[in-house]
Amino acid sequence: MYPRNAWYVAAWDVEFAREKPEAVVILGEPIVLFRDSQGRLAALEDRCPHKLAPLSLGRCEGDRLRCMYHGILFDGGGRAVEIPGQDMIPHSLSARSYPVTVRGTWVWIWMGDAEKVDEALIPETEALDSPNYLMRHGMIDYDASAHLICENLLDLSHLSFVHENSFGSSANNEWSNSAPFVTTLDRGVRIGRWIRNRRYRDGRTVDHWNTYDFLVPGILTMAGYAFPVGTADGLVGAPEAVAQDDVYSITCQAVTPVSEGTARYFFSVGVPRGTDEEARLEQLFKVTLQAFAEDKMMIEAQQKVIAQVPGRNFHPIGSDRATTLYQRVARKLVKIEG
Ligand code: FES
Ligand SMILES: [Fe+2]
Repeated sequence: MYPRNAWYVAAWDVEFAREKPEAVVILGEPIVLFRDSQGRLAALEDRCPHKLAPLSLGRCEGDRLRCMYHGILFDGGGRAVEIPGQDMIPHSLSARSYPVTVRGTWVWIWMGDAEKVDEALIPETEALDSPNYLMRHGMIDYDASAHLICENLLDLSHLSFVHENSFGSSANNEWSNSAPFVTTLDRGVRIGRWIRNRRYRDGRTVDHWNTYDFLVPGILTMAGYAFPVGTADGLVGAPEAVAQDDVYSITCQAVTPVSEGTARYFFSVGVPRGTDEEARLEQLFKVTLQAFAEDKMMIEAQQKVIAQVPGRNFHPIGSDRATTLYQRVARKLVKIEG
């Protein structure tokens, strides 16, 4: 149930070298990424059309990639341009290529119909060299389905329990007791919730407004805003306009399905530049890593139980509303693809 006509995050652009091809797997498809002499990316199926050796064991040569089994040389579009010891190059000797682009420091791959490729569908995310935020990033491999990670991110009521010692550490189960506002978007959902009288680690007490978009195929962009105590009670619904100054922290996350039961989770967190941002970011990153380890422990354990008792359905509760709406959007997009 993953739409294919969507951009999937394949890697952090800053994480792999120019000289070496990089193997990734998305939706069960092995893909090799490599850079041309200008540093621009190409993405090919990680399979030489000659005898199916992985091209990720190959060698970058200028703008091209050489299979290091029998030495066939491929261009960025996957066409064979040289066969050692042979002048005639058959047209059919080519590797499938995928549209690939870099935006917001992420490498995005279009997994669907090449005729439908549309860069406007790449969600807006904050780059690691953002002028507005000091950012840090990471990546976690999961022995669990991407669906389970998406469901975790779509329902933050779990902060009060999974993260009782990190993100959700405060009295009154404030995350699970405050119902979120949820609206449906063209390609996902927007979720917002007030946490009244929240005590920040810096000692301030605020009305905290947490809001995020969760877009197919699993891209989250979130911001937390600090408002004076009493703001939430003085408003009906969500705050319409929020000033950049009020941002407490941001995060961008991407859940990429690797196979049916494995996933790769990319994330960044940031704090507004200003005073003391290094220390604030250090603190935030530390608690984020702790929280993400808590998620991984719970979700991988959940995945094991699911594998042990196949065929059992989930029983939704009220806090699953955003998940239900998101899945409806995703299903609709899959259906349109036909
Ligand atoms: S398998 Fe790649 S050149 Fe033979
Ligand atoms: Fe979590």
